[in-house]
Order: sequence, then structure tokens, then C-alpha cells
Amino acid sequence: MSGTWTKHDMDFLGGHRQRRTRQAAWSRAMVRQTVLTPADLIWPLFVIEGQNERSAINTMPGVERLSIDLAVEAAKQAASEGIPALALFPNTPGHLRSENGEEAYNPDNLMCRALSAIKQAVPDIGLIADVALDEYSANGQDGLVRNGEILNDETIEVMVKSAIVQARAGADIIAPSDMMDGRVGAIRMALDAEGHDKTAIMSYSAKYASVYYGPFREAVGSGERLQGDKRTYQMDYANSDEALREVAQDIDEGADMVMVKPGMPYLDIVRRVRDDFNIPVFAYQVSGEYAMIEFAAKAGAFDRTAAMMEALYAFKRAGCDGVLTYHALEAARILNGERV
Ligand code: PBG
Repeated sequence: MSGTWTKHDMDFLGGHRQRRTRQAAWSRAMVRQTVLTPADLIWPLFVIEGQNERSAINTMPGVERLSIDLAVEAAKQAASEGIPALALFPNTPGHLRSENGEEAYNPDNLMCRALSAIKQAVPDIGLIADVALDEYSANGQDGLVRNGEILNDETIEVMVKSAIVQARAGADIIAPSDMMDGRVGAIRMALDAEGHDKTAIMSYSAKYASVYYGPFREAVGSGERLQGDKRTYQMDYANSDEALREVAQDIDEGADMVMVKPGMPYLDIVRRVRDDFNIPVFAYQVSGEYAMIEFAAKAGAFDRTAAMMEALYAFKRAGCDGVLTYHALEAARILNGERV
């Protein structure tokens, strides 16, 4: 290219004009690479005690904690929209939280009752059970604490017991979200030993110590209890290679699916995992990401529906097989062509 450019002199394009395929809706549709369907969306639900109870979460406008009967109704709606699975999180009543998190393996705990009620009423939706101690511990940490240290192997013993009661109650997928070393293998062995060889494991493999979990901690009631931070077990957000080691180890230990978390600020990690491993990869668009979209839309920064859909497509484009998102039901309705 040389000389003075004039608008008639575009030879350097060699005839290529990328805008040609963008000029009409039909040709944009024709060349569109990424597909998003309701089957890509996993819906996290927060469960509380009571009947016909719902409670708002201040930092997550539009999301409510639901009593089990209402969670069953939500599950029916999700199934009818083609959402394949729910991820359940209990807000354990304060008097049942303890230093050692014993409620985690009470077969009659809120989580187990929610799992069996939903499994019975909506047998065709998959149920993902979170396994971690923060929903049961008095201090909001995901592990047992002794002298300020988060114990690894002792925590795994409790998690294994928790996973077993969840599998018995009807969990299809056990999802350890704690980041202790060796928990996937321990849970796999215990499940198999009890005949739960069909129960799958979705590991929170690359889970970063993130400020974006703030609203979730309000939702499950662990935030106000949390002492310290989670940086001795959740990953440092400055690291990337370490995520691949975490994923490789979880696959070795028997994970059926892996997860990257948080989501949108970590799409580079999703892409690396997708390129390096042949295993289903999920991302969790976490509570803080949800809050950012909702509060920015409320402030008039952008159209909330458009922001929601753009984010979900970004996950698919980055290589996710699916996304855990609080927008799942609404997004599924949009994808199914319903007015919302
Ligand atoms: C608990 C757990 C957390 C989330 C899922 N499981 C919070 C944490 O690790 O502190 C976060 C999900 C979200 O922010 O939406 N082990």
C-alpha cells in the first residue's frame, strides 16, 4: 500500500470485505458460529425452610430464596423450558450451623429434603448438589478450622459423608465447591463403595478466591459469619497454569465434568481448559456477575435483557458446554421465543 488513500482506492482489501456477511439478519444468522439453547443453562436455586416462603436477596435483585414447595414449582417451570439441571444451595438455619458442620451429613437436612422432593415431583430434571462446609459451618469457611488453619483431609471426611447423604436423597451430580486437595477421588470412591456408581461428579476445579461471590454469601447466610478469606484453598486470580493442573488432577481422580468459576472475568481459563482437555467444561456466572448486570441495568447503563444474552453467548463462544446462571429461566424463555 502506498500513496494517498482515496475512497475509490481500496485494492489493499484484495476484494475482502468482512462486512458483507453482516449486512442482513439472514446472512448474520447463516454464518453465526455459536449456538445457545436452554440445554446450555443450569439454574442455581437457594432453598430455605418453611412452606410457601420466599425471601429476597438484597444484592441479587430478582433472585429469591425459596422454600422446598416453591423450589418444586420452580423446578417444574425450568423443566418445561428445557433447562437440563438445577444446582441447589441451602440456607441452613443458624441454630444448625456448627463448628464442625455436622448438619452437612444429616440425611434429613434441608438440602436432602429439597433433593428428594424435587426428584420425586420432577424426575426428569438433573439435580446438582453443592458439597462444601460453608453452608453448614459456624464460621463460613468451606473447611474445618483449627487454630486458624483450614484442614484439608479432615474436611474431606466430612464432605464424603455429605456427598453420600445427598446421593441417597436423589442428587444426580455431586459438585464439590470447596477446593480441598483430593476431594474428587475420595467422593468417587465413597460413592462407588455405596453403589452410587451412576452418580456423577461435576468438580469446581478451577475456583478462584473471588470477591464476586459476595451476593451468594448473603443468599446462603455465610457472608456475615465468614472470618478471614479463602485464599489458602481457592486459587489466586493472578494464576492460569495452575488451573490446568487442578483440572488434570480432578480428571485423574474421576471427575465427569469440570467447572471454572467465576465466569466472565475468567473466560481465558475456560478457553485453555477447553483446548487442553476432552471433558465437558462448565462455567459459573457467579452472583457478583449477576449483580453487576442487574444493578448496571437499573442505573440505566444498558438494556438488561441484551446484556444478559450477550454474556451467555460469550460463555458458549469461549468453549463452555454449559453455564450456571441465575438468569437461566428468563434466558430459556427468551430462547424459546416467549415474551418475558
Ligand atoms: C461455596 C460456594 C460459593 C459459591 C458457590 N459455592 C461461595 C464461596 O466459595 O465463597 C459462589 C457462587 C456465586 O457467587 O454465585 N462453597
